[in-house]
Amino acid sequence: MERSFDEVEDLDVAERTLNEDHYGLEKIKERILEFLAVRQLVKNPKGTILCFVGAPGVGKTSLGKSIANATGRKFVRLALGGVHDEAEIRGHRRTYIGSMPGQIVQLMKRAGTVNPVILLDEVDKLGRDYRGDPSAALLEVLDPEQNSTFRDHYLDVDYDLSQVFFIATANVLHTIPPALQDRLEIVSLSGYTEREKVEIAKQHLIPKQCENSGIDPNNVVFTDDGVLETIRHYTREAGVRNLEREIGSCLRKIARKFVAASDKTDFRVVINAEKVQELLGTIRFRKQDTARISEIGLVNGLAWTEVGGDVLQVEATLVKGKGEVTLTGKLGEVMQESAKAALTCVRSRAEELGIDPADFNEKNLHIHVPEGAIPKDGPSAGITMATAMVSALTKKAARHDVAMTGEITLRGKVLPIGGVKEKMLAAHRFGLRTLILSKENEKDLVDIPDEVRDELTIHLVDTIDEVLKYALVYDVEEDVLETPQIWNADAPAADVSTTIE
Ligand SMILES: Nc1ncnc2c1ncn2[C@@H]1O[C@H](COP(=O)(O)OP(=O)(O)OP(=O)(O)O)[C@@H](O)[C@H]1O
Ligand SMILES: [Mg+2]
Repeated sequence: MERSFDEVEDLDVAERTLNEDHYGLEKIKERILEFLAVRQLVKNPKGTILCFVGAPGVGKTSLGKSIANATGRKFVRLALGGVHDEAEIRGHRRTYIGSMPGQIVQLMKRAGTVNPVILLDEVDKLGRDYRGDPSAALLEVLDPEQNSTFRDHYLDVDYDLSQVFFIATANVLHTIPPALQDRLEIVSLSGYTEREKVEIAKQHLIPKQCENSGIDPNNVVFTDDGVLETIRHYTREAGVRNLEREIGSCLRKIARKFVAASDKTDFRVVINAEKVQELLGTIRFRKQDTARISEIGLVNGLAWTEVGGDVLQVEATLVKGKGEVTLTGKLGEVMQESAKAALTCVRSRAEELGIDPADFNEKNLHIHVPEGAIPKDGPSAGITMATAMVSALTKKAARHDVAMTGEITLRGKVLPIGGVKEKMLAAHRFGLRTLILSKENEKDLVDIPDEVRDELTIHLVDTIDEVLKYALVYDVEEDVLETPQIWNADAPAADVSTTIE
């Protein structure tokens, strides 16, 4: 294991390799190149282990591979998902029957060099129980001060890991132990726009899948609308993994036809939108649309999930009763409290909003967030729930083409939230073009790709009054309370501000 691959230090070569392997991701690539430059200048710089964080299929693992290619190092991967035993990292003592060296030493053996890239995949899925805390062992592995004398329990001699290039990947940050996070330099990957996905498919996924299914790329032509059809109706994701899978599935079906074809020289298939439907069968996802009509008590919120952003609708309905409030939809504690804050905020402004205070005692208010089986939590639906409540109580429909996200305080202030880029991409994907955000989130807007940003109207607000001004449509007749009323979508926005002031 003495052999050490000569590291390729030419940054131009590295840049070229990164560009060849991945489309887009300009900022990320820049970060990687800066990182490589610093590594050349400072031997063992402190606390600099790159960690890619993002939704599944956005290219974290494959970026790791690409870095190995770009620097001429061997690539080995350590899957940390479900590792909950320290001995898996550091090995068992030889007194145990069936004892083995730990994964790190095994990986070094597999790499056969002293300076491979070791990808610590899924660090956020590390387990921890009575058998020990693997993250503690990892801390030692990653610490440049300690890892030149890493001691595997099985080998029981010091082993030098200081030349290894560690890279970590994770889907979420909050489950990585803080001490470990401290050692990592976080790089967030936030998912692709539709147009980026089309380019990734054309430049990378289709050629790769052609090769996998043994098809000559000259024999099939994927048209842009064929790729778009696959993206829109057969996948719903922030990354491109399912897209790659569906493209592979199309090509395998073509491969079968090719094998059966009598005339192989003239074989040529054009895969357009119709052909995709023919190959992949019934559409799996309807066009990502939300309601097409504005309704009373139905408001579009935006959520951040581990698989990227999502649109989350909030429903509020009033029924005759005794002033009870019901919250359903598997809402977590924080979200329930946020709903209560929203309600108090709305009650405290009942008069200005034109709500009959008696309604709070004589009607029951039900807030529901579909889909009911999926747990939801967090404070960022505060303004969405408040808007749904006001909409139900004032019988003003909420605009169907508006989406919002923000925390609410009792005094009606709108606070900033996280995951802005993912949420904006999701809203765009769902065809929502008007968005409401806290003013303090303005700084996050620079991350949004121009092609998306240009199509969005983003209202940055301070208070719930402004939110209502942008989100509500004007009055519907008085006598409909029990059933939500459907209102004409194309009606102009009400100037609610006059009633608020
Ligand atoms: N920008 C890109 N350009 C080209 N190919 C890409 C890009 N992003 C992702 N891919 C491809 O998408 C596929 C999935 O990526 P990868 O396995 O790296 O996802 P991941 O982020 O590690 O996901 P997970 O969190 O599920 O492990 C790979 O085949 C990868 O090459
Ligand atoms: Mg991965």
